[in-house]
Parts: sequence; C-alpha cells; structure tokens
Amino acid sequence: MDDVFEPAASDTRAVFLRDVLNGLSKPQKSLPCQYFYDAAGSELFEQITELPEYYPTRTETAILNTHAGDMAEALGRDVLLVEYGAGASTKTRILLDALRELAGYVPIDVSEEFLLHTAQALRADYPELPVYPIVGDFMTRFGLPQDSQGQPVGFFPGSTIGNLNDDEIVQFMTAARALLGDQSQFLIGIDLRKDASILIPAYDDAAGVTAKFNLNLLTRINRELGADFDLGGFAHRAIWNDDASRIEMHLESLRMQSVHIGDRTVSFDAGETIHTENSRKFTIDSLLPLFEQTGWILKKNWLDEDRYFAVLLLSAT
Ligand code: SAH
Ligand code: AVI
Repeated sequence: MDDVFEPAASDTRAVFLRDVLNGLSKPQKSLPCQYFYDAAGSELFEQITELPEYYPTRTETAILNTHAGDMAEALGRDVLLVEYGAGASTKTRILLDALRELAGYVPIDVSEEFLLHTAQALRADYPELPVYPIVGDFMTRFGLPQDSQGQPVGFFPGSTIGNLNDDEIVQFMTAARALLGDQSQFLIGIDLRKDASILIPAYDDAAGVTAKFNLNLLTRINRELGADFDLGGFAHRAIWNDDASRIEMHLESLRMQSVHIGDRTVSFDAGETIHTENSRKFTIDSLLPLFEQTGWILKKNWLDEDRYFAVLLLSAT
C-alpha cells in the first residue's frame, strides 16, 4: 500500500513472539493488551461499544456531541488532527464535522486492516479531507507524514490512556509533546472512578462479548505463532482492583495444563491466570502531575451529568 506510513518495518511476528514468551515467563503471567487488536479483535471491540453495560463509548460520544462547538472553538482553524488508537474513528467524525478549515487527519493504529478500512470510509465521506493513516504502535517514536500540513492537535479518546501504567503515560505524553509541538493542544478522554457495580458488568457483559474479546488473544497467538492454546481450557475474568483503581482482565486456566508456543512449553496450574489488561479509572487530579511533568497543562474539561467520563483539553506548556 503506497498511502500507508509504516514506521517500524521490523519483523512484527518476531516481536509478537518475544512479547508473548516474555509475558508468559513472569511469575504473574501477562500479555500486552495491544495484541487484542487483530482484525477480529477490532470487530469485537466495536461490538463491545454497543453493549448496554459498556457505558464509556456512549457517554464520551454524548459529551462530544454536546460540546463539539466549544471544543472546535478552542482548537481553532487549520487543525491537523492526530488520533492515537483511532479504531473505527466514529467519535472523530463528531470533531471533523465541528472543526473549521481542517488541514488533515492522521489516524494511528496497530490494527492494520481495520485502520485501512476506516481510512477508506473516511475518504469516501470526507472527500476534501487529506487522510494519512499510520500503522504502528503509538508507544514507539514516529514522525508526522511528510506532506501533511496544519497545526497538529492530539486526540486520544476512549480512555485508551487507562490501558497504560504511569511510566507508559509519561513516555507516551512526552513523545506526543515532541511530535505535536510547542503550539499544540491535546483532547484526551478519561474514564472516571465509579462504583464497582457499574464497572464490573461493563467488563463482564451478559452476552459474553468481552469474554470473546479476551479469549481472541489466545486464538490470535495460536494462529500467528502456531501455539496450541485450548480455548475451552481458559475463562474470562474481570476483577475490580480498588487499591489500584482499575479493572483487571484475566484469562483463568480451568485446569492444570501445558501449552506449546514455538519450541517452548508453558505450564499452567488450575486457577492460574494470564493478566491481559488494566483499565484504569481516574480522578482528573490524579493525572495532572503526569501531564505537567511531560509538558502539558489542563486548559478545560467537559463531563457528563453522572460524572462517569471526562474529556480533557490540554495545552502544550
Ligand atoms: N478510539 C476508539 C477506539 C478505542 S479501542 C474509541 O474511542 O472507541 C483502542 C484502539 O487503540 C484500538 O483500535 C487499538 O487497535 C488501538 N491500540 C491499542 N494499543 C495501541 C498501540 N500501542 N498503538 C497503536 N494503536 C493501539
Ligand atoms: C480500549 N480500551 C479503553 C477499552 C477499555 O475499556 O479499557 C478496551 C476494553 N477492554 C474490555 N472492554 C473494552
């Protein structure tokens, strides 16, 4: 594809294998959550966003719909919108419709097929808008597309920032500050702390879609790395960790078993888990020191009535 910028052309299968073997060698086995998003995982995430229990998407969408005019005014004209973890870019369309004289849109995502499909759909619906998809890990360093123009503005919706730990947030925000520049602004969606009775069903829905999303990681490892995970031998678990203020997703081994990955054998006790994702639930105040130390200051924020979710506008300092 000649219209796609791939910053890291390293051997992605080898990197995937290395990350999986590293994660499964730890005392608490874990897998990096970015690997959820192959084409099937991205489709399953889209299904999650429609679930009655999964409040974040509809809540953030409502905030954007209500305040897009204010946001567009704060962001100004000639914006080059750079979106981290763009997915289907559904919420982005609210901003694209509100912004005046847009210079372009740069969606970044690891999920290649899904990203290219999204870019194609946007080009069809916004024929005047230059769209520059970047396939890759937003935690790695990359540059803006050479022919892109306009004032870079970051967009990181969905509370995907909640899937990062503090060190990763610092690394991410520092890199974003360097990429977007001294005059930039950054819109970030964050999921707020709330009662566990709302949080747990959002990550363990009655229809079992989140369970499928979690287990799809094992399907992907089987397919891409030639492993032999027995899907029936693992179950989805969603746990609220109050001290760390996060939902943890795990895959629990239902019996003692061994799994082969390449030339390695990984053993599981009955009840042992693979920690697959953290989804942090923030207070705005708890994030401010991380933003300030990485060159960003909070300018404005918008919340829904229930105070479930917030969209923050940061400005480069
Ligand atoms: N922005 C959308 C999608 C959120 S889902 C929304 O708000 O609904 C998270 C998205 O981030 C997925 O599309 C996933 O493929 C992407 N993603 C996750 N980790 C990533 C990483 N390290 N680098 C690039 N994209 C990533
Ligand atoms: C993308 N990310 C913010 C989602 C979340 O809520 O942490 C991923 C997800 N995991 C389970 N359900 C949704």
